[in-house]
Amino acid sequence: MTRARYQFPKDFLWGTATASHQVEGGNTNNDWWHWEQQADRILHGHRSNEACGWWQGKWTEDLDRAQETYQNSHRLSIEWSRIEPHPAVWDETALERYRGMLQGMLDRGIEPMVTLVHFSHPQWFIEKGGWLLDQSVELFERYVRKSVVALGDLVKKWVTINEPNVYIYSGFVEGAFPPGLTDLRKVPIVTRNLLKAHAVAYEAIHEILPEAQVGLAHHYRSFVPADSGNILDRTVTSFRHRAFNNVFPEALRTGKMKMLHWRESLPEIVGTQDFFGLNYYTRETVDVDISKPGQILRTGDYPEGADVSPTGFIANVPEGFWEALQWAHDDDLPIYITENGVEDTDDHIRSRFLAGHIRELWRAANFNWKIKGYYHWTLVDNFEWERGWTQRFGLWGLDPKTQARKKRPTADFYAEICKMNGLSSEVVAQYAPEILDQIFPPRRSDDLGA
Ligand code: FCB
Repeated sequence: MTRARYQFPKDFLWGTATASHQVEGGNTNNDWWHWEQQADRILHGHRSNEACGWWQGKWTEDLDRAQETYQNSHRLSIEWSRIEPHPAVWDETALERYRGMLQGMLDRGIEPMVTLVHFSHPQWFIEKGGWLLDQSVELFERYVRKSVVALGDLVKKWVTINEPNVYIYSGFVEGAFPPGLTDLRKVPIVTRNLLKAHAVAYEAIHEILPEAQVGLAHHYRSFVPADSGNILDRTVTSFRHRAFNNVFPEALRTGKMKMLHWRESLPEIVGTQDFFGLNYYTRETVDVDISKPGQILRTGDYPEGADVSPTGFIANVPEGFWEALQWAHDDDLPIYITENGVEDTDDHIRSRFLAGHIRELWRAANFNWKIKGYYHWTLVDNFEWERGWTQRFGLWGLDPKTQARKKRPTADFYAEICKMNGLSSEVVAQYAPEILDQIFPPRRSDDLGA
């Protein structure tokens, strides 16, 4: 067997990512709680309920797990609806609780990266009009300033907004997230307000913490034509790539927001990222059926023969991650992989998914691209939005009723990666032997039986 190791740069960050609503539990004051109460919004009528019990203190044992498995960073989000339960009314005890969590990370040698909005919002904010409201930008800024002043001595890395493209697609095109609209006319308005909110937060954070590093978590989905000889497939692929992947990074690069028929100049948003946060999960194929024009915006299929996750949500395509890294590298900023992972209750494909993706990440780091860290999604199974508890992304499994955790084998695999700051042939042979030859091609002398 070839013995080799893909080594990562010194000071690389290895961790997991979580989001407040998905792990905390017991919050009745945000849009997601209200959404969960409505019929048919969440698969099988699931509810977040106590989620992973983090608000009740379960974060301590989960962070012990992260520490024991050699993670040196964690990406979490703070919940606007807890910090500002009513307009301009601040809950200092909520901020104290977050201080406890952040200090708990630092005590364990785990550097926090904090996201300010990860899909959930105070219900009062939504009732006012949410991101459709021009005033949303200043409301967000007020919350950001309060939080950064209160927590800034504990946090250097900030993510303003998680996956604005997914939020907009799911909430305003597909209708699967609150506010549940399917109204393309709203899309440019929300896009503009989220871009402005990001930029205003960037400036505010730097005013309070000049040394902070601030970014946004971009979601990249790899689109390929089902038939590359078919012009329709190719055209729609390129449209979807531009509409879904490119609007946010391009606007932040050029100060020009271009979407559908909408053109807007936003010069003030240029240069408001200290790093590029990249979330990548899957590739999909675009197969256009002209008898169904509505399908142009709908999610497609997976490449033939793809290694697909149990509920069909994710295809394990590391080449798509490579494509995402090249795309992210266009901005020449330091890159953090702010999310990557797969749902897999029985842990059948997670280890090979991880190995394949880490190898692509190493290629990018080996080109001296500024790849700084990787956050696996996620530490412990959590509440997966409109898919409820049907998808299990955790390195640890969770029974939400009993709150019992159970380690999956990939948690040990990831621990080895974090510990050696790299990926060796020995651990791939142990945890993902089925792709060993792919990741570490055998030497010619091995082929010859020498
Ligand atoms: C991402 C979300 C994250 C999680 C994963 C599976 O789009 O940011 O909260 O649900 O998908």
